[in-house]
Amino acid sequence: MGYYDLFAPFYDGSVEQHYVAQRAAAIDSLAIEAGQTVLDLPCGTGLSFAGLRAAGAGKVVGVDFAQGMVKQAKKRVDEEGWSDVDVVQGDARTVSLGDLNLEQPVDRLLICLGLTCFPDWEAAFDNLWGLLAPGGRCSILDIHAEKRGFYGLVAIFAAQADVRRPVWRPLEDRSEDFSRVDVESTALHGGTLFVASGQKPA
Ligand SMILES: C[S@@+](CC[C@H](N)C(=O)[O-])C[C@H]1O[C@@H](n2cnc3c(N)ncnc32)[C@H](O)[C@@H]1O
Repeated sequence: MGYYDLFAPFYDGSVEQHYVAQRAAAIDSLAIEAGQTVLDLPCGTGLSFAGLRAAGAGKVVGVDFAQGMVKQAKKRVDEEGWSDVDVVQGDARTVSLGDLNLEQPVDRLLICLGLTCFPDWEAAFDNLWGLLAPGGRCSILDIHAEKRGFYGLVAIFAAQADVRRPVWRPLEDRSEDFSRVDVESTALHGGTLFVASGQKPA
């Protein structure tokens, strides 16, 4: 059993209060058009699902590696009765459209607090980018610090995250109309929170 399997039951209570406005900003930057399909990876316990649906997504596919997080996300979907949200266990580095029961690439890709956590994060981004349709948008919410301060070290312990990774760069290199905007951060985040967003060339 992995770290996030153990953490899953406590995740919402301990983490979400620090990311409400920032998560909303990331979802906003996706500029979702009504009925579009959104891949939310890693979905964790599904904290972005409500915002994605409210923004107009016609279908949300949430993917996470940890079974414990997947279980919590599925519980949320069941309790809310969301028939337009699928939750699948998968690895960012290898997951395919077939694994997600999708015939077409997705219209929008949300990578929320994921790339600082993933092993082989650049390979993971490459794989996820391949699942996005030409003309589609990708948004990243994550944390960056040049050096790890005290809370950066806490991030390693508490979230298995390395905040020194420049996780927006592969998106900047590949996308059109790239933007990276710092959003509200406190010392507790262990670095500066940002939303990076860009469109895949059509
Ligand atoms: C900090 S949590 C963020 C979860 C969610 N996006 C949120 O905003 O609450 C990081 C998540 O990344 C997942 N994860 C780690 N490695 C992964 C991988 N290789 N593929 C997919 N998910 C992974 C963990 O299981 C965990 O749920």
